[in-house]
Amino acid sequence: MNIRPATRDDAPLLLGIIREAFQTVYDRLGLTPENFPRHAANLGPDWVLRQMDEGSRFFILEESGTPCGCAAIEPQDAQTVELRRLAVLPAHRNKGYGRALTAHVLAEGRRLGARRAVLGLWADEHELREWYERLGFRFVETVSLPDVPRRVTHMAMDL
Ligand SMILES: CC(C)(COP(=O)(O)OP(=O)(O)OC[C@H]1O[C@@H](n2cnc3c(N)ncnc32)[C@H](O)[C@@H]1OP(=O)(O)O)[C@@H](O)C(=O)NCCC(=O)NCCS
Repeated sequence: MNIRPATRDDAPLLLGIIREAFQTVYDRLGLTPENFPRHAANLGPDWVLRQMDEGSRFFILEESGTPCGCAAIEPQDAQTVELRRLAVLPAHRNKGYGRALTAHVLAEGRRLGARRAVLGLWADEHELREWYERLGFRFVETVSLPDVPRRVTHMAMDL
């Protein structure tokens, strides 16, 4: 298993991983391209490139050269990074790849000088929240956001 930084050429690959991985969440929560404008089916590779332009660093996890998952880290300010787009393809779940990707991007955040990592998840994703708690994140708040059909929980961890 190897985790490498993504390049701009990886934008279509990243979008494919994100689309397939998040489909299980969309199915569970009833999110569709119609009721959720930021549904991955509504996004193209240019969306990934925009995120890169705005400072996100993406990483790809490969097993024997086959891409299995990705994650991104986005600096919010000098002290804080946000963990984003953590996605492992359904066929490769429960092998520790999600944990490895999270550890990798948090180490990257520390390397960038951040003191705190934050993330957002759907408030209904109780199992995911417990998993993030096992990784060291703590609950901050649950909020309603514009253009988002379900409540979002924010979590944070000191680095
Ligand atoms: C969350 C995700 C990245 C975990 O990847 P993974 O490679 O299976 O993670 P690991 O193998 O390191 O750990 C498996 C853990 O996933 C946990 N998990 C997290 N969310 C889960 C969910 N919705 N359903 C079932 N298990 C879930 C399991 O409890 C298991 O925990 P344990 O090993 O500590 O018992 C993967 O399920 C995924 O891509 N989900 C869809 C996208 C998503 O929700 N991303 C997070 C956005 S905030």
